[in-house]
Amino acid sequence: MEITRIGVVGAGQMGAGIAQVAAACGLEVMLNDVSEELIQRGIAGIGKRLDKAVSKGKLDEATAESTKVRIFPALGLESLAKTQFIIEAATEREAIKIDIFSKLNAVAPPEVIFASNTSSISITRMGAVTGRPERFIGMHFMNPVPVMKLVEIISGLATSTDTIDATVALAERMGKTCTRSRDFPGFIVNRILMPMINEAVFALHEGVGSPEDIDNGMKLGTNQPMGPLALADLIGLDTCLAIMEVLYKGFADSKYRPCPLLRQYVDAGWLGRKSGRGFYDYRD
Ligand code: CAA
Repeated sequence: MEITRIGVVGAGQMGAGIAQVAAACGLEVMLNDVSEELIQRGIAGIGKRLDKAVSKGKLDEATAESTKVRIFPALGLESLAKTQFIIEAATEREAIKIDIFSKLNAVAPPEVIFASNTSSISITRMGAVTGRPERFIGMHFMNPVPVMKLVEIISGLATSTDTIDATVALAERMGKTCTRSRDFPGFIVNRILMPMINEAVFALHEGVGSPEDIDNGMKLGTNQPMGPLALADLIGLDTCLAIMEVLYKGFADSKYRPCPLLRQYVDAGWLGRKSGRGFYDYRD
């Protein structure tokens, strides 16, 4: 099946990034979220990023415009029925994702592939309860999507070879490099990354160092592009907490215990860049 039009559920930072790279490689994108306002906000963000690339001389205006016009607002999950591939990038909560895929399963033809951009939740389990386990797969993009090269491909126990091949081909068409992971909590990237971020929060919680010293230590001492606390702010502290909860519960191992300070920041609504405040203050 030739893929010419995809659906993206979720117009937040991940979904909008996925929509942008998909449109940039020539696909038509139906961008869905729960309200027209959220969809328009996602589309406006994409427009802004493309305009910035044009003003920096990194993209020509015609390419930017043709990318923009391939993204269509799609309110209501039924408006994704006429696509060949649907990527879900909603909030990192299993119940929300299962609800979305169950609804999509009722409206999308059986050959449509469902991919979840989940960063940690079981692909096998979500595939099993939402109606098409052989056409269900994990397609985990990294943040910021337009910049990061990797897509982690996670097959559930029942995912078919055809589904894996089509997903890898789609990711490569979007200019990404794929790694494959078996379906274990956090897959590969977050199983390794999140405990590091969580440990950085413990270091802050225990007064080992200031956020700047913790981040500069890791940035300058281990050649990372940004420190773990700044990265947590970029990812979203609610997402970091949700992933730690999945690791903690999934492995039933105390080494994945989320730091109480991380939980407290999330309780306070200090979610990082997207809320204006996390380990750093972004309100200016
Ligand atoms: N969206 C799109 N493009 C962005 C962007 C965003 N949010 N943020 C930065 N960029 C682009 C800039 O436009 C710029 O592009 P050009 O080079 O074409 O001009 C480029 O990225 C570099 O940006 P800056 O010069 O502003 O800043 P920088 O050099 O400090 O890079 C960064 C910013 C790319 C975010 C870099 O710090 C970095 O790579 N950080 C690590 C990011 C990372 O580890 N991501 C993975 C997170 S884990 C994950 O996503 C998995 C999960 O499930 C949680």
